[in-house]
Amino acid sequence: MDTAEKVDWATLNAHAAGRPARRLVAKAIAAAGGDRRPGVVLDIGAGAGADSLQFARRGWTVHAYDSDDTLAARLVENERMPGAVHFHHGDIAEIEQFPPAQIVYSTYTLGLLGPQALPEVWAKLVDALPRGGVMATDVFGTNDSWAARSDVATLPLEEIDAMFRGFQVIDRSVRDEDGRFLADKKHWHVITTLARKLG
Ligand SMILES: C[S@@+](CC[C@H](N)C(=O)[O-])C[C@H]1O[C@@H](n2cnc3c(N)ncnc32)[C@H](O)[C@@H]1O
Repeated sequence: MDTAEKVDWATLNAHAAGRPARRLVAKAIAAAGGDRRPGVVLDIGAGAGADSLQFARRGWTVHAYDSDDTLAARLVENERMPGAVHFHHGDIAEIEQFPPAQIVYSTYTLGLLGPQALPEVWAKLVDALPRGGVMATDVFGTNDSWAARSDVATLPLEEIDAMFRGFQVIDRSVRDEDGRFLADKKHWHVITTLARKLG
């Protein structure tokens, strides 16, 4: 794989459609106070929607963003869920303002926005959260194979910590291991942070 543009996300997302929701979904909901008063979630780079749909099954209203439209075919599931997924098809870097939300959620996507767009998008995501709102997101670290690419943002820990200034960090996990991406071998360095906005 050479550039993010060349990845066939539709094929990847079709394969991922049946995967179980990530545990980060349950952690984010717990950090936001549980399911008693479900609110709004932004899922940034929702892919096939496994995590968006899980939030909606638990009663949350999800704004799911992706430039691949695999998720569109799954919106019929809204009929059977207490919450709902609203799909926004397009480039996340071009969103001017995100709707207010209690949870901002994003996995394996923010780094793909690239080093130029990521800080701008991040500032808008922080703005979407009220005081007490939950950020449940990951970014790629400097050990990641994609650190060699100029179109992917890979960040040192100090920069990730700086992004969370003004947040109380609740949980941090690090994946730093050899693995695969599609047919290729790849080292994954993925830093996931669960945090609550303070001010
Ligand atoms: C590695 S997948 C992650 C999907 C899902 N969050 C997960 O964890 O399984 C990355 C997703 O980000 C989307 N994506 C990458 N860059 C994007 C951009 N600039 N705007 C919108 N979506 C983007 C891709 O289409 C893809 O669905």
